[in-house]
Amino acid sequence: MKSAHLLQAQREGRKGSEGPPRTHKVHFLFLLLSGASEIALRPGSGITLVIQPRTPALPGKPCYILTSKRRDTTLAIRSGERAAFTFSCQNPESHFVMEIQKSVDCVSGPCPFGEVQLEPSTSVLPALNRTFVWDVKAHKSIGLELHFSRPRLRQIGPGEACPDGVTHSISGRINTAEVKIGTFCSNGTVSRIKMQEGVKVALHLPWFHPRNFSGFSIANHTAIKRLCIVECVFEGEGTATLMSANYPEGFPEDELMTWQFLVPPHMRSSVSFLSFNVSNCEKKEERVEYYIPGSTTNPEVFKLEDQQPGNMAGTFNLSLQGCDQDAQSPGILRLRFQVLVQHPQTESNKTYVVDLSNEQTMSLTIEPRPVKHGRKFVPGCFVCLESRTCSANVTLTPGSKHRISFLCDNLTRLWMNAEKTLSCLDPRYCQRKSYRLQVPSDILQLPVQLHDFSWKLLVPKDRLSLALVPAQKLQQHTHERACSTSFSYLLASAVPGQDLYFGSFCPGGAIEHIQVKQNVSVTLRTFSPGFQKDASRQVLNVSFIPFFKEESIFTVTPDAKSKVYLRTPNWDRGLPSLSSVSWNISVPSNQVACLTLVKERMGVVCQTGRAFMIIQEQQTRAKEIFSLEEVLPEPRVRRRSFWVNVSNCSPASGKQLDLLFWVALTPRTMDLTTVISAAVVGGAFLLLALGLIICFVKRKKKKNKGLAVGVYNGNANTQMPRLPKFQKERKDNDSHVYAVIDDTMVYGHLLQDASGSFLQPEVDTYRPFQGLMGDCPPPTPAVCSRTPTSKLASDYPPPPMPSESEGEPYTFSQPTKEAVGSGHADIPLLDTQGPTELVE
Ligand SMILES: *[C@@H]1O[C@H](CO)[C@@H](O)[C@H](O)[C@H]1NC(C)=O
Ligand SMILES: *[C@@H]1O[C@H](CO)[C@@H](O)[C@H](O)[C@H]1NC(C)=O
Ligand SMILES: *[C@@H]1O[C@H](CO)[C@@H](O)[C@H](O)[C@H]1NC(C)=O
Ligand SMILES: *[C@@H]1O[C@H](CO)[C@@H](O)[C@H](O)[C@H]1NC(C)=O
Ligand SMILES: *[C@@H]1O[C@H](CO)[C@@H](O)[C@H](O)[C@H]1NC(C)=O
Ligand SMILES: *[C@@H]1O[C@H](CO)[C@@H](O)[C@H](O)[C@H]1NC(C)=O
Ligand SMILES: *[C@@H]1O[C@H](CO)[C@@H](O)[C@H](O)[C@H]1NC(C)=O
Ligand SMILES: *[C@@H]1O[C@H](CO)[C@@H](O)[C@H](O)[C@H]1NC(C)=O
Ligand SMILES: *[C@@H]1O[C@H](CO)[C@@H](O)[C@H](O)[C@H]1NC(C)=O
Ligand SMILES: *[C@@H]1O[C@H](CO)[C@@H](O)[C@H](O)[C@H]1NC(C)=O
Ligand SMILES: *[C@@H]1O[C@H](CO)[C@@H](O)[C@H](O)[C@H]1NC(C)=O
Repeated sequence: MKSAHLLQAQREGRKGSEGPPRTHKVHFLFLLLSGASEIALRPGSGITLVIQPRTPALPGKPCYILTSKRRDTTLAIRSGERAAFTFSCQNPESHFVMEIQKSVDCVSGPCPFGEVQLEPSTSVLPALNRTFVWDVKAHKSIGLELHFSRPRLRQIGPGEACPDGVTHSISGRINTAEVKIGTFCSNGTVSRIKMQEGVKVALHLPWFHPRNFSGFSIANHTAIKRLCIVECVFEGEGTATLMSANYPEGFPEDELMTWQFLVPPHMRSSVSFLSFNVSNCEKKEERVEYYIPGSTTNPEVFKLEDQQPGNMAGTFNLSLQGCDQDAQSPGILRLRFQVLVQHPQTESNKTYVVDLSNEQTMSLTIEPRPVKHGRKFVPGCFVCLESRTCSANVTLTPGSKHRISFLCDNLTRLWMNAEKTLSCLDPRYCQRKSYRLQVPSDILQLPVQLHDFSWKLLVPKDRLSLALVPAQKLQQHTHERACSTSFSYLLASAVPGQDLYFGSFCPGGAIEHIQVKQNVSVTLRTFSPGFQKDASRQVLNVSFIPFFKEESIFTVTPDAKSKVYLRTPNWDRGLPSLSSVSWNISVPSNQVACLTLVKERMGVVCQTGRAFMIIQEQQTRAKEIFSLEEVLPEPRVRRRSFWVNVSNCSPASGKQLDLLFWVALTPRTMDLTTVISAAVVGGAFLLLALGLIICFVKRKKKKNKGLAVGVYNGNANTQMPRLPKFQKERKDNDSHVYAVIDDTMVYGHLLQDASGSFLQPEVDTYRPFQGLMGDCPPPTPAVCSRTPTSKLASDYPPPPMPSESEGEPYTFSQPTKEAVGSGHADIPLLDTQGPTELVE
């Protein structure tokens, strides 16, 4: 059955035969058979054309090739020869096949690289199945690259056929042995095949196929140092099935073959092994190795038995490495595998817009969570910008709008960290201004957990300080009362060289605001995916306020429900030397507060200076001062809002100042009778103790009503035991009260002002409550005796009262220098000068 192609070819064949002059007889014969061809091969072309019977031969009536001279079943035409022929039958395509071989010698001369032409042109060839074979010989070290322009190739396995009958069979050479790389149809992904030492390409065109081009070019390449590299290009979704060399026969011993897959970054690939066999290795191991962009453990090595990787984003490559086989029983290494390229299966191919175009100082990094994977394979997990460039670690820079998508099997493998800087360059402009620290919604909408959002708050040195006011009061994270919220604020100094961590604070506590002296970083750290829900609670306002000298000031308004645990900055590493921290603790008028120090941590030893704590009632300004190396305040009930000011010395190494205390409220009425009874007992001790006190007090005239200062620092309306009353002069700078007590008990020297001059202290005596140890007197169960858990109970063994403190007076001292309520005028607790003994 002759197709139109055949007729066309026959017509062309006839035309060709009309060219050169010939004998009438031959001419007549050709016309008679109406199928004549004439083929001329140019000299030096290296081409041999052979027409031979198909194998197995078609049974039945034989067909012959007729030339002017003879009748034959094969015909060979070599370079420089010319032949005219026709066939004795109507259907030569069923009897004969044609092979056109071209040897390309790159060993003895330069290689003719470039587009490979079909030579002779298919238009002059008779309509027979034809196989063009290019046999390129090159030096062992020369790489050769076959480049297939579209259509690209698709590998087929043994027994498979191509729909159009056009195949490329490619083989290489190891020494003298031929190695089959594969057979390919014209509809696939293979774009390049790189070989070394020579290559043979056979293009099979069925007799009816009009294709008149080879479809590939040859180029030289640096040595590839392996059997071959097969490159596949995917432009969209698709699959490719590929086989090891010589498949289904064994892969050559101890060889290496690589497949490169060029895949758009927003697509994902998975590899599955359809069938394989492994040989008996004597040395080395048969394995596959992957290079996956973004993987930190490249190459990823797998056994053929292993589950192969999936969900790889973008381009990757895969190598098959053979082994030294056992000579007796080599076995067989072979592999047929499939690469599937598709869009990400989950909705994570969604595009998210993160608009940082109005930001100048904010950047966002999306990166892999630091986890140990061991040698276990982990598929790629990537962030793609504009769906084009994907990488494992992406930083979005301020000033532009970013479109991102994720290529990741499991987005919990990623997290985000953001940083934003807010700086005040001109104090005149930003003083009293306030900014909201809030994670932008563009970031909250991303399907990746926000780990840290850090705000760096920068102020001019010694000019401004910062006030942080949360939308919701904060709790300080302590061991005793741990934060369990989905996020916390971590507060740390941002002054270069200053290693100061204020602590971790979460919503739901008593801290109303936090003021910090200078540059600080506020980091919102999330602890659970539940943060998305709680996100609305994360608002912190920052304002620039006049400079003050404490490292930080915490404003605490406890509520009656729970104890408030507070601790000094740099917990566990010690408050930085010579720095001060204050807590402004509010006591509502219908409540009393109990302040209790947890003493186990205490153990500061000063090298220079003194570490002390001042507890000052805000209204009366009455203060108690404790040298923390020597004595700690006992638990006490306080009826008015008070300051707890702590100031560190320069401690000896390993003897740091760490202070933990708690404050609890209890209703005022409830404790009154117990207060009184306890106070009477305490008062008796005090009166007794008074006899031991040698105290010279120089008093000024009272301006305010004199205040009873003593055990309870109580105010007038409670029935306090009669204590010696000392005047608190505040309005009068030259008020001076000298006390000569035990020489170690004088703390006035610590209260130097910045100019180094002495403040003149008023000195009162203070005797600690000596009844119930470790608890607030009176022991109102609601406040002081209660411990939240049994564990905590064990945390607080009743501190033993040192016996020598019996009757030991503690001093109360009060700088007479005017202290103005607004923070900036406050006196620094500590000056960096060394200790000076107070001398009269
Ligand atoms: C010619 O090629 C076609 C397609 O490859 C094949 O089916 C046919 O058997 C071939 N004919 C001969 C005579 O080999
Ligand atoms: C090539 O492959 C595609 C998809 O695999 C198919 O739709 C198309 O028909 C194929 N074309 C030929 C000529 O085989
Ligand atoms: C192949 O055939 C097409 C038309 O069928 C023609 O345009 C083209 O020039 C031919 N190419 C060669 C190399 O003969
Ligand atoms: C390819 O061959 C040319 C000329 O023979 C040579 O100049 C070039 O360096 C070769 N390129 C490679 C990649 O080997
Ligand atoms: C190849 O492996 C298959 C199982 O994967 C096995 O059934 C078959 O016998 C093996 N063939 C050879 C030649 O080892
Ligand atoms: C495989 O990929 C890696 C990383 O992209 C690359 O360094 C290496 O050259 C590639 N190997 C081959 C044979 O393509
Ligand atoms: C996301 O993936 C789905 C499923 O593969 C696909 O239908 C959809 O077009 C993809 N969307 C985008 C934006 O790529
Ligand atoms: C991601 O990049 C940032 C910035 O280059 C770098 O600080 C961070 O360590 C990187 N993270 C990982 C997991 O590589
Ligand atoms: C705080 O940061 C600002 C801006 O970088 C800088 O000028 C200032 O000196 C810093 N303050 C301290 C105490 O380092
Ligand atoms: C102390 O805290 C209370 C309650 O927040 C507040 O009213 C008062 O102004 C604060 N005192 C100072 C000196 O900041
Ligand atoms: C305690 O600190 C606060 C805040 O810095 C300050 O206003 C107050 O005067 C200090 N009290 C003493 C006794 O230094």
